Amino acid sequence: MRSIKYFGAAFVLLALAYCKSTKTNTSSASNNTAEETKMPAVSFTPSEKQLQIAQTRWPNTTADELSQGYSIYTTNCNKCHVLYNITEFGEKKWIHEISDMAPKAELNKEQTAKLTKHILSFREANAKPKTN
Ligand code: HEC
Repeated sequence: MRSIKYFGAAFVLLALAYCKSTKTNTSSASNNTAEETKMPAVSFTPSEKQLQIAQTRWPNTTADELSQGYSIYTTNCNKCHVLYNITEFGEKKWIHEISDMAPKAELNKEQTAKLTKHILSFREANAKPKTN
């Protein structure tokens, strides 16, 4: 996918800018967890837990599909409003919103499927109690 390449390029640029602007030890800054999806970060790797949840629900789901779902979310779903925190809403609300919003964002079926897998599995892996 083309956008992945742009993401890669953007990430390298960001990384370069970051290294130049801060001369501090960067190793302590790589504490990457699901937390960072609150921000439209440029790369995403699903946690083991998220991947397992996704594979239980949709056999053969790959980590790559989930990271593509993440990219779709962070590039297409913040054009009209902020990127909502995935754990903020319950599953039913998300299913409803995704079917409402996918056409607004002009996503095709495949993109919508990846987005759905990412959002629902991420939510389940990171949900606060009682968001359902
Ligand atoms: C063309 C503009 C547009 C795009 C693109 C868009 N949205 Fe929305 N979104 C809206 C509007 C307008 C509302 C509020 C009214 C409504 O629900 O229709 C909304 C509401 C929402 C809500 C409900 C928030 C709440 O507090 O209840 C969620 C969740 C949401 N969008 C998710 C998404 C996702 C996920 C995508 C990407 C697939 C997306 N949106 C893309 C316009 C957009």
